[in-house]
Parts: sequence; C-alpha cells; structure tokens
Amino acid sequence: MRILVFNGSPRIGGNTDLLVQSALKGIDRQANRVEYFRLNDMDIKPCQNCGGCTDTRVCVIKDKMQQIYPAIRKADRVILASPIYFSGLSAQTKIMVDRCQPFWCEKYLHNMPIAGKIHRKGLLILVGGMKRQIGADCSNATATAFFRSISVEEHRMLAYLGIDTRAGVKDRPGALEEVFEAARILSTA
Ligand SMILES: Cc1cc2nc3c(=O)[nH]c(=O)nc-3n(C[C@H](O)[C@H](O)[C@H](O)COP(=O)(O)O)c2cc1C
Repeated sequence: MRILVFNGSPRIGGNTDLLVQSALKGIDRQANRVEYFRLNDMDIKPCQNCGGCTDTRVCVIKDKMQQIYPAIRKADRVILASPIYFSGLSAQTKIMVDRCQPFWCEKYLHNMPIAGKIHRKGLLILVGGMKRQIGADCSNATATAFFRSISVEEHRMLAYLGIDTRAGVKDRPGALEEVFEAARILSTA
C-alpha cells in the first residue's frame, strides 16, 4: 500500500514529531511505500478562493502542493498529525487542507470521488497543551472534512491532551506505543 504521512508541527523533536516518528516505525516498510511530508518545510501558499479549480478540478497555484496532489491521489492510507493551535489544526496543516479544495470540487461538484484500489482509511494524530477536549473536537471536525474530501472514508483519532513541553509526550505512558500500533494496523488492514 501507499501510505501518506503529514507532519503539521514546526517543532523538530516536539510531540507531534515524536508521535509521527513512532507511527513511521510502526509501518512495515517492506510491504508498503511511505511518502512523508513535513509541512513546515514546504512553501505552500494559502488557498485564494479564486474559483480556478471549480470547473477544472486543478489548482492554478504552482508551488509545493504540486508534490502533494499526486501523492494524495495515489494514497491508500493517510496519516495526518498536527499540534492543536487555538483549538484547531496548526496553520501549516490547515494551509495544506484548504489547498485540497480541488478534491472537494472533484468529489462534491463533479461527483468524481478519488477511485482507490482499496477502501481508503486514515489516522489523525493530535497533541494539545490543554486538557480540554474542545481542541481535539474542532481539529477532528476539520480533519474529517479533509479526509472525506480526499475520499478517506473512515479514520481513527488519537488525541494526546495536556502535553505542552517540547518532548512531553515521552512521559505520557503508552502514547508512542499506541501510535506505533495504530500505524501498524493501518498499514496492514
Ligand atoms: C500558537 C499556539 C497555539 C496553541 N493553542 C492551543 C490550544 O488551543 N489548545 C491546546 O490544547 N494547546 C494549544 N497549544 C499548545 C500546543 O498544542 C502544545 O504545545 C503541543 O504540545 C505542541 O505540539 P508540538 O510539540 O508537536 O509542536 C498552542 C501552542 C501554540 C504555539
């Protein structure tokens, strides 16, 4: 299978990063092809709502999203990982999500969902500094709209809340192992 992994945190060695590294270790590399994007390192312009993709299903902006579009199209599994910022996905993540409007148009206006060889599944990994659930719920609402637009019809959410220090997730019992296992299952089932 082709497994697409997005890391939406700017912090190298931070919580999202550690969880993503654990997820990557959980994926059987012999049986699967992984494509990994660290969104903070990519020059991606926000959606301009220009309407360019409405009829054409193609984005007119030529930037690093041009690497991501074909990867999304080919993916069998999608892992989206983000820190919670202001009760939502990080800006790095949200910019990429908004630029998936061409897929939304393709599916919902043109009635052409991405045709997968197999049922496309996803995994959402979130980390928040606060213990309140609202950040995970709001992030999951946006991630659900993203996943469904790119024809990932089901996903699991793993949210780690109350973790604020750079590598604090290491002290959360079972967190790295849980993500490892979720990625392992995603890449085999
Ligand atoms: C700009 C900004 C906004 C944040 N907003 C929230 C928030 O609304 N809710 C929350 O639980 N944590 C919030 N946090 C805390 C981060 O989610 C937390 O530090 C997390 O561990 C960062 O993950 P990382 O180490 O992968 O970068 C915010 C952090 C930043 C920098």
